[in-house]
Amino acid sequence: MHLYDGRIIDHKRLNADCYRLTVAAPPIAQAARPGQFLHVRCGATYDPLLRRPISINTVNRKNGSVTMLYRVIGRGTALLAQKKVGEQVNVLGPLGQPFTFDPSYRKVALVAGGLGLAPLYFLLQELNIDDLVFFQGARSASEILLTHNIKQLAKELYLATDDGSAGFKGTVVELFVNQLAFQNFDIVYAAGPQPMLRALCLELKRNHIKGQVSLEERMGCGVGACLCCNVKIGRGNSWVYKRVCADGPVFDAEEVYWDDSANNG
Ligand SMILES: Cc1cc2nc3c(=O)[nH]c(=O)nc-3n(C[C@H](O)[C@H](O)[C@H](O)COP(=O)(O)OP(=O)(O)OC[C@H]3O[C@@H](n4cnc5c(N)ncnc54)[C@H](O)[C@@H]3O)c2cc1C
Ligand code: FES
Repeated sequence: MHLYDGRIIDHKRLNADCYRLTVAAPPIAQAARPGQFLHVRCGATYDPLLRRPISINTVNRKNGSVTMLYRVIGRGTALLAQKKVGEQVNVLGPLGQPFTFDPSYRKVALVAGGLGLAPLYFLLQELNIDDLVFFQGARSASEILLTHNIKQLAKELYLATDDGSAGFKGTVVELFVNQLAFQNFDIVYAAGPQPMLRALCLELKRNHIKGQVSLEERMGCGVGACLCCNVKIGRGNSWVYKRVCADGPVFDAEEVYWDDSANNG
C-alpha cells in the first residue's frame, strides 16, 4: 500500500456526471490488481476529512499511471471533478482484495451495472482468456461507456439499458439470465449497485454458477481499522461480519448474506 501525491495527467468528462481521471503513481500502477481500489483525498485540504473509495479502472505499468472512472455523487466527487491536469491528487492504495482467477476456467462472464464497469474493465484487460462475454447495463445509452475498448478485448459484448435506448430493454441481470440458455459459464465476475448484485447472486445460486462480486459500502479509514464498512459474509444462516475495505471488496457470490432475502439458505 502506498500513500502517493500523483500528478494528474488526464481528466476527461465522459457524460453528464462521469469522469475519467488518470494520475501518475508508478508504485501503485505496479502493484495494482483488478478489483482493488484507491482511497482518494478529493479536496485540496482536509475538508472533507474522509477520503473517497474509487475502483482502479485501468493501469499503465509502462508510464506508471492509474486511471479511475467516477460519477459525481456529492461533495467529495464534485471537488475531484474540479481538479485540473497538472494538479496533484493524494491517493492511498492499492487497497482491498482483488478478483481471483483459476487457470481451469475456460468461459467467463463479466456483468457490470453502472460504474461497476470500472473494476471489471481492469479485470477484462488482465484476464488472458479467449472466451469472455461482457454484459454492460446502464440507465440509458448516454451512460454506456468504454464499448469501443471492451469490444477489442471481449469475445462478445451485450448491452442493456433501463429505458431501451441501447441494447436490451431491461436490467443487465435479466439480459445475463436470458443468455444462460445458450452459454455455460465457469465463473461470473460482477460489480454494480447493491440491488443488481443481490439479483445476480440469487440467479447464480439457482443456476449453480460460481461468482465473485465487488461490493460497495460507505467507508471511513479504508484500511480495516474503523469497522464502518462491515457486511455479513457466510453460508446458510451462519455469517460473520467482514470489512469491505480489507477483506473485500471482492467476495464469493455464494457467501454474501443478503439480509432481506430468503435466498441465503
Ligand atoms: C470499494 C469501492 C469502490 C468504488 N468505486 C467507485 C468507482 O469506481 N467509481 C465511482 O464513481 N464510485 C465508486 N464508489 C462509490 C464512491 O466511493 C462514492 O460514490 C463516493 O464516495 C461518493 O462520495 P461523495 O462525497 O461524492 O458523495 P457523498 O454522498 O457526499 O458522500 C458522503 C459519504 O458517503 C460515502 N459514500 C457515498 N456513496 C457511497 C458508495 N456508493 N459507496 C461507498 N461510500 C459511499 C462517501 O465516501 C462519504 O463518506 C466505490 C465505492 C467503494 C466502496
Ligand atoms: S473503512 Fe474502516 S474498516 Fe473498512
